Amino acid sequence: MNSTRRTFLKQSLVTTSGAGLAALLPGQLWAAEQQPAASDKLVVGLIGCKNMGWSNLDDFLKVPGVECAALSDIDDEWLNKRAADVQERTGKKPKLFKDFRKLLEQKDIDAVIVGTPDHWHCLNMVYACQAGKDVYVEKPLANSIAECDIMVRAARKYNRIVQVGQQQRSDNLWRDVINFVHSGKLGKIRRVKVWANFNYAAGQPIAPDEPVPQGVDFDMWLGPAPARSFNRNRFHGLWRMFWDYGGGLMTDWGVHLLDMALWAMNIQGAPKATIGMGGLFAGEGNAVETADTQNVLYQFDDFTLEWEHNAGIQTGPNGRIYGITFVGSNGTLWADRDTWEVIAEGWGENARMQTVPQQKSDGQGHLNHVRNFVECVKTRQTPVCDVQVGYDAAFYAHIGNIAYRTGETLVWDETKKQFSNSPAANKLLTPVYRAPWELPRL
Ligand SMILES: NC(=O)c1ccc[n+]([C@@H]2O[C@H](COP(=O)([O-])OP(=O)(O)OC[C@H]3O[C@@H](n4cnc5c(N)ncnc54)[C@H](O)[C@@H]3O)[C@@H](O)[C@H]2O)c1
Repeated sequence: MNSTRRTFLKQSLVTTSGAGLAALLPGQLWAAEQQPAASDKLVVGLIGCKNMGWSNLDDFLKVPGVECAALSDIDDEWLNKRAADVQERTGKKPKLFKDFRKLLEQKDIDAVIVGTPDHWHCLNMVYACQAGKDVYVEKPLANSIAECDIMVRAARKYNRIVQVGQQQRSDNLWRDVINFVHSGKLGKIRRVKVWANFNYAAGQPIAPDEPVPQGVDFDMWLGPAPARSFNRNRFHGLWRMFWDYGGGLMTDWGVHLLDMALWAMNIQGAPKATIGMGGLFAGEGNAVETADTQNVLYQFDDFTLEWEHNAGIQTGPNGRIYGITFVGSNGTLWADRDTWEVIAEGWGENARMQTVPQQKSDGQGHLNHVRNFVECVKTRQTPVCDVQVGYDAAFYAHIGNIAYRTGETLVWDETKKQFSNSPAANKLLTPVYRAPWELPRL
């Protein structure tokens, strides 16, 4: 989108969301939503189509004015399936590209959605910024702290709107939770605990390497990651449990839930110290590298933040398989994506606060998140989960994994952007890219 069109969009948005809109009757409002002005058009492309990329695009297509011009995937099966899905939804077949760089060359595309595995996010996003596109990039922001840092710089240098797919930031349930914590009613909060227990993260039974499936450009799937032969256990969806592509539950769920802790506790910068422990204790015979059992403790001046995950089981505290709890002197707040509640300390006349009965989600978080991005592309305002918010959550998740992998108590030096006390941990900050791919220099 050129700057003239952006200015026009901005002006048209001011008109449609202002007094002019209020004058419309509800029926007219519906009709107006169905037929957006040509100026409200936003053309998107999707890179990485199978699972979350499609979930994102599906919600983008619910926003009036959004059109999908192109898809990119290295797997013909998913490229063709999602092309048919788009055609069914919109009546138009998008252009298809196996190489995402060709999609980025399309001048009519204003914004791209990045739904690839984590080891691709940095290159997808930085190249998109360089091509003048705004970016909705999935979480975790990237598979290393160095890549996350580069992505923040790219967004700023190329003046792009970047929303990270931590959709809890746009969920009314989580806003209510954060507002409640900020109200101070829980009293002095001394401990925040976050956990995630999921079967999938224990991996699948070990399987032999196989020929690359037909229609798959496996070299392009590996991209900057080390060369290796094809194995189904490291491919679609399952890559999460291998360090070259993902960080296990610590990054997969960690960024969503740690983000809520950072937001609620107004945490800026690194903790005073971080320790991590755990291992592969769930049993032998599964293809998995990331820990199936892990705890991380982040130390702050007057409270601790704890992470725990257990792969291969799906039960958890307070009946929640994942969630967050804020332990205050007056009461404890429990939350997951479906409900939240507060249990008061003491009872009867001695209760230190009013108990809050279970509150339910309206389930609109993801759609709100997409809408917020679309709105911000038009207004050039900062989205609710700007690249820096994504950086912060990914930073905490990655230092948790690095503490576990090194077994050392880690202290971060923000001025040097490395750990002050562990050469072993510093080696895990930056991935070694496989040629011809290069870590962007910005
Ligand atoms: N926000 C959320 O709640 C949420 C939920 C699930 C996944 N995610 C994130 O979404 C991302 C994708 O996860 P997934 O579960 O959809 O993974 P997936 O493996 O199911 O899908 C990834 C897709 O990307 C394609 N791909 C890989 N390399 C590519 C390349 N170079 N160019 C184009 N396409 C390429 C694959 O072929 C596949 O179709 C991850 O970063 C994950 O953490 C976020």
